[in-house]
Amino acid sequence: MIRFEHDQFRCPGYFIKAAAAPFEKAGAAALRKRVFVDEQKIFKDHDSDTIDAVATTLVALSTYAHEPDEVVGTVRIHEPEPGLWWGSRLAVDRRFRTVARLGQQLIQLAVSTANGRGCHTFLAHVQAQNVPLFQKLAWSVEDEVDLHGFPHALMRADLSRYPPIADPESGWLSLVGGEGAARASVPRPVCHDVPALLAQHWHVDGSRA
Ligand SMILES: CC(C)(COP(=O)(O)OP(=O)(O)OC[C@H]1O[C@@H](n2cnc3c(N)ncnc32)[C@H](O)[C@@H]1OP(=O)(O)O)[C@@H](O)C(=O)NCCC(=O)NCCS
Repeated sequence: MIRFEHDQFRCPGYFIKAAAAPFEKAGAAALRKRVFVDEQKIFKDHDSDTIDAVATTLVALSTYAHEPDEVVGTVRIHEPEPGLWWGSRLAVDRRFRTVARLGQQLIQLAVSTANGRGCHTFLAHVQAQNVPLFQKLAWSVEDEVDLHGFPHALMRADLSRYPPIADPESGWLSLVGGEGAARASVPRPVCHDVPALLAQHWHVDGSRA
């Protein structure tokens, strides 16, 4: 039998999807507080606002023993006027940054979901240090602004690079292998491949393969 300590476990797969279950929405709110209040100190007590009532929340879920485990990434999208969409509150848990391209995948799901809902313009206020990341993903800078006392760029996505997604609640399962991340489109039964994936990365005594 393979035994894992949770803190030595390297997650082999992540669900990237629209939040639906209560634990997904609560996990996204908790992650936002950890990142924007506790870590970045952009907000004092909480980062919730009136947009939350109308926004669609997207999440990245780690997996453990085949099943969705924690919310480790989130972003929200909303449409203040027909066809105009905004993305905001992009956050990845510190322990999961740069390990599985979760930020990039959340951006992909955000813009593709909006595109599938009739978006003609997708904008975001992007923290200055993240501008190169968005530029790499076919976003362009429209303006520079100060928000909450921090420098941001107003950026716009090139929608032609984001094919429409009609069913964001299904999303996809992103598998992390030795050759880098691979994406398997849902259906969910792909999750049953996780034991095989684990075997690629771990020996039965718990050491790394
Ligand atoms: C911005 C953020 C969401 C990115 O999430 P992530 O999962 O780490 O992003 P990804 O792994 O998809 O991509 C990050 C890219 O930037 C690079 N990068 C990220 N942090 C870096 C750092 N400190 N130094 C150098 N490169 C860095 C990564 O190497 C990667 O590039 P690559 O694909 O060429 O390897 C995450 O850092 C975060 O939550 N930051 C705090 C909150 C925040 O800034 N939110 C965004 C508001 S606009």
